[in-house]
Amino acid sequence: MGSQLPDGEPMPANGLLPEGRLPRAGVEFSAYLHVPFCTTRCGYCDFNTYTANELGGMGMDTWVEAMHREIDLAARVLADGPARPLATVFVGGGTPSLVPANDLVGLLTHLESAFGLEGDAEVTTEANPESVSPEWLQGLRAGGFNRVSLGMQSARPHVLHLLERRHTPGRALEVVGWARAAGFDDVSLDLIMGTPGESADDFRASLEAALSADPDHISAYSLIVEEGTRFAAKVKRGEIPMPSDDDHADKYLLADDVLTGAGFENYEVSNWARPREGQPHRSRHNLAYWRGQDWWGFGPGAHSHVDGVRWWNVKHPRPYAAALGDARSPGAGRELLTSEQRREERVLLELRIADGLPVEVLLPEERGRLDRWIASGHAVLRDGRVRLTLDGRLLADGIVLDLLAG
Ligand SMILES: C[S@@+](CC[C@H](N)C(=O)[O-])C[C@H]1O[C@@H](n2cnc3c(N)ncnc32)[C@H](O)[C@@H]1O
Ligand code: SF4
Repeated sequence: MGSQLPDGEPMPANGLLPEGRLPRAGVEFSAYLHVPFCTTRCGYCDFNTYTANELGGMGMDTWVEAMHREIDLAARVLADGPARPLATVFVGGGTPSLVPANDLVGLLTHLESAFGLEGDAEVTTEANPESVSPEWLQGLRAGGFNRVSLGMQSARPHVLHLLERRHTPGRALEVVGWARAAGFDDVSLDLIMGTPGESADDFRASLEAALSADPDHISAYSLIVEEGTRFAAKVKRGEIPMPSDDDHADKYLLADDVLTGAGFENYEVSNWARPREGQPHRSRHNLAYWRGQDWWGFGPGAHSHVDGVRWWNVKHPRPYAAALGDARSPGAGRELLTSEQRREERVLLELRIADGLPVEVLLPEERGRLDRWIASGHAVLRDGRVRLTLDGRLLADGIVLDLLAG
């Protein structure tokens, strides 16, 4: 979640969607819950999250109460539509592991009573290794959560230090063991690659350490230097070199080599999953975003999408809670996507996933440009779908730009 909210038209106080838009039949409906708290802010991160002294005395209870109110609001707004039980629920942040398990389970229970949950719903929480405990994981598992995603980032102390992460390298791996003991069959680890000063051997060691914990899913993100972060300021002052594109590319190829060698499949540019026991272990929730399905994002700064209507909440937890306390929508703005915008979003998102993009979504002139990427080995067209090759995944953003803009 970047630092800026888009422009758009104002959200009506009652939160009703325009033109009777409602979650569509035949499309998955999901919920995202945003936890806007962190103990300290990591130097590279510009997510919408706040430390205690940035909240002006607002406590976590106020956020929990406001989240319950937003669930009630969503139930009223969607009451006229067909019943759409939730296919996935994802608690992200920020640091969900700072919120007591009881409170997260209370929110899940409320969502279930408001919308229903599919029998095989995926219910994930993110967690920061330093603030998670065995009891917290047990509480969530008993309360219906079945997937946990841990921010490991690196196994190398000097890399964690540069990222200003406070946990020790082994902590994330220990937490995987706690999650297994609590009964989680679906565990994911996040890695960051391309931190300045990280050698290829350092990154290989992080991949191997992650694999040694036997997770089901690994995300590996190239470090992005976000404007306005401490990290960006240090780069500007020349204290840290800018991460290099060549280094990112080398690390990406290394990640794909090591992870596919260990039985993982890449299913989105930055995500690998290990199919086992008949389960693909892909993140169904993230796939719902990439496939343009319907979701309600609850919490400060959260974004939602229902049938071509996109809206976003006010960013700071205080005005967010104040709006809901006054029975007003916390929405800061919204936009109604045109059919051309929806088509372009499909190109942007579906080209990134291994299942690819149905070729008929492309306009004739885009088909012409696609032929060049196929000829150069960056994309393939099979069974009516365009898929990026490994070389193509390295250039995914550039290929999308070229196809759409020429
Ligand atoms: C909300 S955080 C995960 C949960 C928890 N807050 C944590 O950090 O452990 C989601 C992930 O985004 C990734 N991330 C955040 N900022 C990033 C950046 N500037 N560049 C690349 N990845 C980033 C990190 O891998 C992080 O684990
Ligand atoms: S703990 Fe996670 S969300 Fe919080 S500042 Fe660090 S990376 Fe960002």
